[in-house]
Amino acid sequence: MRATIGQIASFEDQEVEICGWLYNKRSSGKLHFLQVRDGSGTIQCVVFKGDVSPETFDGCDTLTQETSLVVRGTVRKDERSPIGYELGVNEVTPVHEAGEYPISPKEHGIGFLMEQRHLYLRSTRPHAMLRVRSEVVQACRDYMAGNDFTLVDAPVLTPAACEGTTTLFEVDYFGDSAFLTQSGQLYMEAGAMAFGKVYCFGPTFRAEKSKTRRHLTEFWMIEPEMAYCDLDQDMDLAEDMVSTVVARVLDRCQEELKVLERDTSALEKVVKPFPRISYTEAVEKVTQAGTEMAWGKDFGGDEETVLAKQFDRPVLVHRYPADIKAFYMKEDPEDARLALCVDMIAPEGYGEIIGGGQREDDLQVLERKIEAHGLPREAFEWYLDLRRYGSVPHAGFGMGLERVVGWLCGSKHVRETIPFPRTLQRLYP
Ligand code: 4AD
Ligand code: MG
Repeated sequence: MRATIGQIASFEDQEVEICGWLYNKRSSGKLHFLQVRDGSGTIQCVVFKGDVSPETFDGCDTLTQETSLVVRGTVRKDERSPIGYELGVNEVTPVHEAGEYPISPKEHGIGFLMEQRHLYLRSTRPHAMLRVRSEVVQACRDYMAGNDFTLVDAPVLTPAACEGTTTLFEVDYFGDSAFLTQSGQLYMEAGAMAFGKVYCFGPTFRAEKSKTRRHLTEFWMIEPEMAYCDLDQDMDLAEDMVSTVVARVLDRCQEELKVLERDTSALEKVVKPFPRISYTEAVEKVTQAGTEMAWGKDFGGDEETVLAKQFDRPVLVHRYPADIKAFYMKEDPEDARLALCVDMIAPEGYGEIIGGGQREDDLQVLERKIEAHGLPREAFEWYLDLRRYGSVPHAGFGMGLERVVGWLCGSKHVRETIPFPRTLQRLYP
């Protein structure tokens, strides 16, 4: 019977067939210990000379790392095994003998491993991290569906900038210019007026010319948008979604978090309510902590870390100066210098994971902002229509998937959190 290692507990004492790859091997006299992985897990397969044919036993001598093989044997409970079971082998059938595998069990530099990313995906650490990523994606989608959001996919090719003109990837569009999307938000605003509560979840692109641990040129963002919603309700959603996702990962990814040596006690503290402070208060806190920061300046990675250190869970920073934020943000009716926006800063120095806020719903103000930001009015006529025909207060946010996965996994660099990272210096493999 065919079994997967992930489900091995349900095959105790049964004879099964495992289809996988040789991860590692050691031998001693009458025994070969094959570490076999099949994508769902790794199991120790014990080949005892007395149990198998001489061909099978001798064949194990020359098995190379990453050779694909089918192993037949009996599932035995084993207290010492990290998964609680091992396989007592009676047959090993190689499928394809691997050439000399470039990623040996010794330590390699990260540059080399990223160059070998197509193979490196098989190693324990990336494997665990990408499983967490998969769980986060599914948790987000389930959260959205469970809260009556309709999925409205945003286009990837767009006629205009959403998040500033300095990070646009321009592509030739039959002689015209188009841009890879920086955010699906503007389209979600159209969606919210049609469906009430919507979201998109897809790749977004920014020609980030700086080399940082937090920036990719291609990253995934989940972007909910709600009609008849203000900044406070937007923060409620962000806080509820993040705490739900964290709880789900803690519930379902213990194995992976263990492999990643993540201190889960820090994640267990991530429960509602999250602190909410204004930008002005945040600047004061950063300054008081000894990092000089002028009002009106945006937080850099260092300031974010200083601020986040003061809390044991994500902090919501709202009402930034409008001058350092995007054109579509609603002006604060209490202070026109401010925008009704919010960023969520993750704890432990993982930085901004969410950006969003209430959108400008007044036609005249929005027209003025488009002009002030030097954006081409024609490309935004459709967006202005949303303020011409039944405009309502509305809000939403974008959560960066890789930033969240990096935080949950305790990863120092966001390139680890996506299968094939794209950065200033990397377009291969
Ligand atoms: O703060 P940002 O730029 O907000 C927007 O794009 C809004 N239009 C979203 C919305 O309201 N619907 O980006 C949102 C999040 C950031 O908080 C961060 O987590 C992530 O996207 N992000 C990046 N992640 C990796 N690499 C980059 N270069 C990123 N830029 C933003
Ligand atoms: Mg932002």
